[in-house]
Amino acid sequence: MKIALPKGRVADEVLNIFQKIFNEKFEFESRKLILKKAGFTFYNVRNWDVATYVENGAVDIGVVGYDVISELNSDVYEILDLGIGKCRVSVAGIKGDNSYKNKTKLVVASKLANIAKGYFDKKGVAVSIIKLNGSIELAPLVGLSDLIVDIVETGTTLKENGLEEKEVILHSSVRVIANKNSFIQKRDEILNLIEKIKEVYGA
Ligand code: PRP
Repeated sequence: MKIALPKGRVADEVLNIFQKIFNEKFEFESRKLILKKAGFTFYNVRNWDVATYVENGAVDIGVVGYDVISELNSDVYEILDLGIGKCRVSVAGIKGDNSYKNKTKLVVASKLANIAKGYFDKKGVAVSIIKLNGSIELAPLVGLSDLIVDIVETGTTLKENGLEEKEVILHSSVRVIANKNSFIQKRDEILNLIEKIKEVYGA
């Protein structure tokens, strides 16, 4: 079975779970992107690419945040919530400034452009989205946007930059996702693995 893991903390955590299940060491060697062990092949990919590998069938399953799946609108099956990496996707703006509520058109900066657009469209609010790739909190501070849509985990970044959460759009956590064909062809194998993960992880 082929599994895409997002580089970093989540990959480490998932490999730790496999270590507990199989009682063997699961670890990517230095800069290697592929790890083969106990009948599994793990691929070390960028967070934002996990769902792409799964959706296109390059791997059978992947591990990725619900925020990413939502933003990409990925056509995959979500099979388990690991309950880690909990965060929110929220609308935020300058603390105490609610003048955005009186505007006929809002400018919103975000890395999650589709989620942001979908949210304001649904509310019937005219919006222009400015796509950024990071440090989103800067946008309202320099007058680039009225608001931002961003990930809030502890809220520290917002607080330290004089911003506040205005509205919560969605709650996210890390999910195990499966390719739709793989889930038909390797259903028992995948479900068996999920059961084992639940046993050691209590997810
Ligand atoms: C994310 C997010 C916020 C921050 C929220 O940024 O975009 O900036 O974490 O975390 P907090 O609520 O615990 O402060 P990330 O570290 O991914 O970097 P980025 O600026 O490149 O998006």
